[in-house]
Amino acid sequence: MDLRSLRKAELHVHLEGSVAPATLLEINPALTLDEIGARYDYLDFIGFLQSYKWVNLQLKTPAHFALITRRLVENLISQGVVYAEINVSVGVMLWRDLDVRAAFDAIAAEAALSPIPIRFIFDAVRQFGLENAWATARLAAELQPRGVVAFGLGGDELRGPAELFHEVFSYAQEQGLRLAPHAGETAGPESVWAAVECGASRIGHGIRSIEDPLLVAHLRDHSIPLEVCISSNVCTGAVEFLEEHPVRRLYGAGVPIVLNTDDPPMFHTTLLREYEIARDAFGFSEDELRGLAGNSLRYAFGPVPG
Ligand code: ADE
Ligand code: ZN
Repeated sequence: MDLRSLRKAELHVHLEGSVAPATLLEINPALTLDEIGARYDYLDFIGFLQSYKWVNLQLKTPAHFALITRRLVENLISQGVVYAEINVSVGVMLWRDLDVRAAFDAIAAEAALSPIPIRFIFDAVRQFGLENAWATARLAAELQPRGVVAFGLGGDELRGPAELFHEVFSYAQEQGLRLAPHAGETAGPESVWAAVECGASRIGHGIRSIEDPLLVAHLRDHSIPLEVCISSNVCTGAVEFLEEHPVRRLYGAGVPIVLNTDDPPMFHTTLLREYEIARDAFGFSEDELRGLAGNSLRYAFGPVPG
């Protein structure tokens, strides 16, 4: 089967984690490919978060954000993606004192030129605390007319349980935003329960849900999909070995699964590669791959083309 021609959406890709080494070199010619390669190679989840922060710090002007948006959209289209939701690390921008409105203006202007619909998820960062999350949610609410469809929460899950942010999630929901926090990536099922109790419509990763049969049943019965990013989980050490990844067991238990990339060049992957891994390492049949692609369209928050 030609995976490229499969109609599919990307629902979990971080703009700032999508920057190819060659693009980073264009943005900062003082860097070298060796240095970038070393940064895109880390030992564990915390090492990854440090590299992710380093990439963010290279992005300084609205033109940088425009460039990486253009490159990401081109790359998605080349893989047969017909709709995408892009996570923007607004929590990091606020922490850096960047002008979020100016940066997002550049991002949204690029997205408006795209032949496929692009929507945005504004991510707060758990370890940056409550005020940062409130400011991120307020900006997400304000910028809905420019394509923001959801509020998310990333960063170090072990340092910021979702329940801390309960009121921020409620506010975001009242403002008409959907909720798509990361949970169950490095922390256990209790973290996914907390995200579900906060009103999450989708869960970023959620792979450790497999440890709790009641949670698995809840996700299945309430049609709460997991945004699974297999290569990400192997690269960050969230799972030790590829063969141990629970994607097949979650799928077999009836949990809705969507395949995504998270931070593709930082995890040495592409969306097509994630479908290949599902096929080659986890035995997903052509019909099942079509079903996964169907899920990516079904669980989108915005308008999927007909
Ligand atoms: N930000 C970018 N990628 C992330 C991940 N996999 N987990 C948490 N925060 C992130
Ligand atoms: Zn992510």
